[in-house]
Amino acid sequence: MGRLDGKTAVITGAAGGIGEVVAELFAKEGANIVATDMRAAAVQAVIDRIKASGGEGFAAPADITKYSDVEKAMDAAAAQYGGIDILCNIAGIADRFFTTTSIEEALWDQVYEINQKGVFYASRAALKYMAPAGSGSIVNVSSIAGVFGTLGVAYSATKAAIIGISKNIAVQFAGTGIRCNVVAPGPTKTPMADSADSDDEMMARANLHFNRHIPPCDPIDQANAMLFFASDDAKAVTGQVLIVDKGRTL
Ligand SMILES: NC(=O)c1ccc[n+]([C@@H]2O[C@H](COP(=O)([O-])OP(=O)(O)OC[C@H]3O[C@@H](n4cnc5c(N)ncnc54)[C@H](O)[C@@H]3O)[C@@H](O)[C@H]2O)c1
Repeated sequence: MGRLDGKTAVITGAAGGIGEVVAELFAKEGANIVATDMRAAAVQAVIDRIKASGGEGFAAPADITKYSDVEKAMDAAAAQYGGIDILCNIAGIADRFFTTTSIEEALWDQVYEINQKGVFYASRAALKYMAPAGSGSIVNVSSIAGVFGTLGVAYSATKAAIIGISKNIAVQFAGTGIRCNVVAPGPTKTPMADSADSDDEMMARANLHFNRHIPPCDPIDQANAMLFFASDDAKAVTGQVLIVDKGRTL
């Protein structure tokens, strides 16, 4: 028996990195997977692999910065499976550690649109189904950059905002069957981390006070934490932030 049997999970950013591993894990745990990402071919390939191993789901390509796209994906999920039980907001981009004095406004806007407004859009569109049903679990991905001081002003700001949005949703629905929690990953081996790690000097400046000798996490470490929040094991847990970083920020 899977921990998510019979549940429907919409996963943003599911075409690669942490999102892909979450989609595969949740499918193994019995969930119907609605995998969404702006990279249509890559997200379809993830669903093809899930189905080839006996899982259930479909790809719903969407640009998270367009509400009509996001709403279409949620509507399709609810039409196919009768509702949405789980939303994992994983889509996000990094900002190459630009600071308040160095970032171009266009990059600030892009990071804001994807990381922050995207989470707001997807949560709003999923809650359209969760609220009347009186149940659902939203699991948002922030970062240690949203909790501790680090370089990358747009990234840090949006990742902190995700915690604010999540606590707001948690308060709105506290005491009901709707919960909202946050996983805040430390460095995790994905394409995003590979591109950031390529600049050692920037990485050193971005994480001055962290224990940088501690190795990065694997995507499955983040996926397992998200599974806990998504499942009924966490039915009394809402508004919480779980740092998954092997102790890098201790
Ligand atoms: N990898 C790390 O070290 C790390 C650390 C802390 C937090 N995170 C967070 O984890 C999440 C996943 O990161 P990852 O490392 O797997 O990155 P990734 O780049 O491998 O995956 C991000 C996914 O988001 C998708 N995406 C980007 N813009 C989009 C848009 N406008 N619409 C729809 N999809 C879009 C991309 O296509 C990609 O598939 C991000 O929110 C990231 O900030 C990652």
